[in-house]
Amino acid sequence: MTSKVLKTFEKSHFVSELDSSSTDEIVTLTGFVHRKREHGGVIFIIFRDSTGTVQVAGHRKQISPAAFEAMQQVTLESSIRVTGKVFVDKRAPTGIEIHVTSFEIVSLADPEWPLEKDAGDAFLYDKRHLYIRSPSQTAIMQIKAEISRAAHLHLDNEGFTEIFPPILVSASVEGGATLFPLKYFGRTAYLSQSAQLYEEAAICGLEKVYLIAPSFRAEKHRTRRHLTEFWHLEAELTFATHDDIMGVEERLVHAICKHIKSKCKRQLSLLDVKIKVPSLPFKRITYDEAIEIAATQGFKVSWGEDFGREVERAISRQFKEPFFIKGYPTAARSFYHLPDPDRPEVTLSSDLIAPAGFGELTSGGQRIHDLDQLMERIKEQALDPSSYSWYLELREFGLPPHAGFGMGLERCLVWLLGLKHIREACLFPRTPSRLRP
Ligand code: 4AD
Ligand code: MG
Repeated sequence: MTSKVLKTFEKSHFVSELDSSSTDEIVTLTGFVHRKREHGGVIFIIFRDSTGTVQVAGHRKQISPAAFEAMQQVTLESSIRVTGKVFVDKRAPTGIEIHVTSFEIVSLADPEWPLEKDAGDAFLYDKRHLYIRSPSQTAIMQIKAEISRAAHLHLDNEGFTEIFPPILVSASVEGGATLFPLKYFGRTAYLSQSAQLYEEAAICGLEKVYLIAPSFRAEKHRTRRHLTEFWHLEAELTFATHDDIMGVEERLVHAICKHIKSKCKRQLSLLDVKIKVPSLPFKRITYDEAIEIAATQGFKVSWGEDFGREVERAISRQFKEPFFIKGYPTAARSFYHLPDPDRPEVTLSSDLIAPAGFGELTSGGQRIHDLDQLMERIKEQALDPSSYSWYLELREFGLPPHAGFGMGLERCLVWLLGLKHIREACLFPRTPSRLRP
């Protein structure tokens, strides 16, 4: 049978809208053939749409020969439009069964669906364009969308304005080693690592800004937490201190957890995940205290070093709720971090660390707003001041103390759902070894 063009694709219900109160209703659904079996003159199809699955049954003796023939012919992953009557049936996987009255094949799938039950991860990601339609992957993407929605709602509520920064940029924010260069009409441009510098310009007009945009890192290392392209939620505000931005971060993470717990019950149950909403305020420990905790776990960190992944995870394992590590050494942080005036060898910066061995969820802090001090830091880090001329000029025209942070949406999703690997948090992940599909 060739694909059939329908006059209308209307459906009366989504699967998630069907329950025992729908009994005896005639409903029309559009979606996909998830599973199929035939038993004693009855064809059972597990029908799937974006909201779940439901069993659809066609009895040879009770439906039109054309509908039964279409049900016999239909293959896994074909798209279909089904009309039928709703019954409560305890034997059906969701307790609901639709008895077919009409069955249309919208687009017939090749009978060789390539994703076997025991397919390995590498194969599943080669076939991500097909894998992405599975119920678990659909649920993960729906939760990712809800994280973004929660952030928009919450930050809007706190008076932040969304901005839309450039992705093509001319200088690094987080160090030249992880920049992706590209040809730009005879010059070199880069893909943005962070919109922070643009946020710092925008706050002089808008006061409180945020964005959710792609960031890129040419990081060769293959870990379960790093991507070369990720969606970056960043926020920045004027007349603000390091303490103020930690407050913004913890309220946001708290709001995201609450939102996902209440809005994504169906998806969380499908993924067998329970969300624990952390209590406010989050604990704050210093870098120095973190070194002591690392020592109790057998890790010796010399003062001034950045924590490696293993050390950070060992520290994180000592906590049950998210917490901040603050006061990172100035020499180990990017040029824009404000050194603590009382102790210039550490910065007024922090990472929010997710507990139980997870590690970094966000990085943030107060920025240098004084021109001379920033110039000094740029030189100390052997950066070229001319690359930052406009960023420096902000300091000549009244830039007040200000602070901000960034969080990868995928990091947040991996933490909330306990995903094995960050690629599961991406529609189409980008890692050093993966550029397609
Ligand atoms: O710690 P990072 O590099 O900090 C910044 O980019 C700041 N300029 C942000 C700011 O203050 N506006 O990145 C911030 C967060 C990390 O904590 C992590 O959640 C995420 O972005 N992130 C990554 N996520 C996935 N893959 C990567 N390679 C990531 N690098 C950073
Ligand atoms: Mg960081």
